[in-house]
Amino acid sequence: ADLFQPERRNSRGFDLAHAPTLSAIEQARAPFATQQWHGAPLLAGPAAPEDPQPIHNPARPEDSPGTIAWASAADIETALSSARIWDAPPKQRAEVLNRAADLYEAHFGEIFTLVAREAGKGLPDAVAELREAVDFLRYYAATLPTGTPAGTFTCISPWNFPLAIFTGQIAAALATGNAVLAKPAEQTPLIAHFATSLLHQAGVPRSALQLLPGAGAVGATLTSDPRVDGVAFTGSTDTARLIRSAMADNLAPGAPLIAETGGLNAMIVDSTALPEQAVQAIVESAFQSAGQRCSALRCLYVQQDVADDLLVMLKGAMAALTLGDPWSLSTDLGPVIDAEAQTGITAHIERARAEGRLLKELPVPSDGCFVSPTLIEVNGIADLDREIFGPVLHVARFKSRDLDRVIDAINATGYGLTFGLQTRIDDRVQHVTERLHAGNIYVNRNQIGAIVGSQPFGGEGLSGTGPKAGGPHYMPRFCAPDRQHSAQ
Ligand code: NAD
Ligand code: ALA
Repeated sequence: ADLFQPERRNSRGFDLAHAPTLSAIEQARAPFATQQWHGAPLLAGPAAPEDPQPIHNPARPEDSPGTIAWASAADIETALSSARIWDAPPKQRAEVLNRAADLYEAHFGEIFTLVAREAGKGLPDAVAELREAVDFLRYYAATLPTGTPAGTFTCISPWNFPLAIFTGQIAAALATGNAVLAKPAEQTPLIAHFATSLLHQAGVPRSALQLLPGAGAVGATLTSDPRVDGVAFTGSTDTARLIRSAMADNLAPGAPLIAETGGLNAMIVDSTALPEQAVQAIVESAFQSAGQRCSALRCLYVQQDVADDLLVMLKGAMAALTLGDPWSLSTDLGPVIDAEAQTGITAHIERARAEGRLLKELPVPSDGCFVSPTLIEVNGIADLDREIFGPVLHVARFKSRDLDRVIDAINATGYGLTFGLQTRIDDRVQHVTERLHAGNIYVNRNQIGAIVGSQPFGGEGLSGTGPKAGGPHYMPRFCAPDRQHSAQ
């Protein structure tokens, strides 16, 4: 494909170190502190959803941000039969997506509130979430391919980026003129409902964008109906396998599957690394968003010579973290998404405790789905048999002569999403980054928070099919296979 770097700008975001900005944000979200939202399927035809169910605030058991009426089997049929490609001229589609980006930014008070009360994410995360969503809308509007749309695209998203990833998939599918059937995560349908309403308000026709809130079974139906022409999925590797098999059995041969999945992400810190820089990068990478990022650091390798000193600093930095309600500006770590996640992660921590491998944990609030940021000693990444999707960092020591063995062990997991390296040796940067297989490699910084347009994001192997989101190769996959050309 003919690729080009478009004229574009990223969202300005909010400077949270600027007191007047913070107070403007507090004022904007205050009216929504006890608001009740009521979500439902948004269809091109009449809806017949199931009875509304309450949504829970993961930080505060007594708070509910509202209710959701799940899509019924009749709603799914209505959506499938009324989906129509968006045949407006590309320039008009781009204008609508840009208008939607402006609407998202204008509604930051509601969005920051929903992101806190439904997804348990604090203000820095909420700002990043809004910026990324807006960046996706504007970036894809600026890079429209000329190809024929694939047709009807099912977009299935996770709860951990309930606005950004939900929007990114949809924006790419719509920019290319597809009809979208959006299936948000069951934990975060209200944010998805709010965002879909803004996209409709901006001018996306209902027949081109329909929302089907529901559990995984709704996603299963929407990925196994022959009227679907392609699937964009972000979530766990296990779910991606189920979708791939459902598509192979039911969809036309060659129907595109764009799957962005999990990771067992590592960082290597050698003895030349700047300790203060490394510790800050480790804390951000492992514990921001309570570790609920696919990009998050799961296994830290520290060179033996500096390990004791670095771990003392790391434990000190962890002790300074504040766990609590993400609504509070002093909170560093919010809750995990729900009680099921809390139970699973806690069981992993308890196993490590029983084996005498627990190096650090903090007290947790008694109410809400909180899990302590935790440090666990391991021999190496091979000790991790799966992605623990929470604030748990595993740490191993290595000797300099074993560096290549460490890299090979990381590669041997089969995942390849993010990787971090902390070193001041230039030749080592080149050697490690050439030998290590990962979609996004970060040197001497944290390994989360890829910026749309500048740092296309996505992994290889068990971490995803590619192409990377927020990059020039992404949108052509949403076009019919024979016509994947980018516009000049
Ligand atoms: P999940 O796989 O449980 O669910 C993701 C979505 O798939 C949800 O909307 C769910 O309802 C739906 N789903 C479940 N079963 C389905 C089925 N059989 N058919 C179709 N859809 C089905 O994942 P999650 O717990 O929501 O999200 C966390 C996971 O997502 C982690 O593994 C994380 O690493 C991954 N993730 C990856 C990226 C990336 O860009 N690589 C980004 C964010 C999250
Ligand atoms: N794009 C997200 C990050 O880089 C997942 O953290």
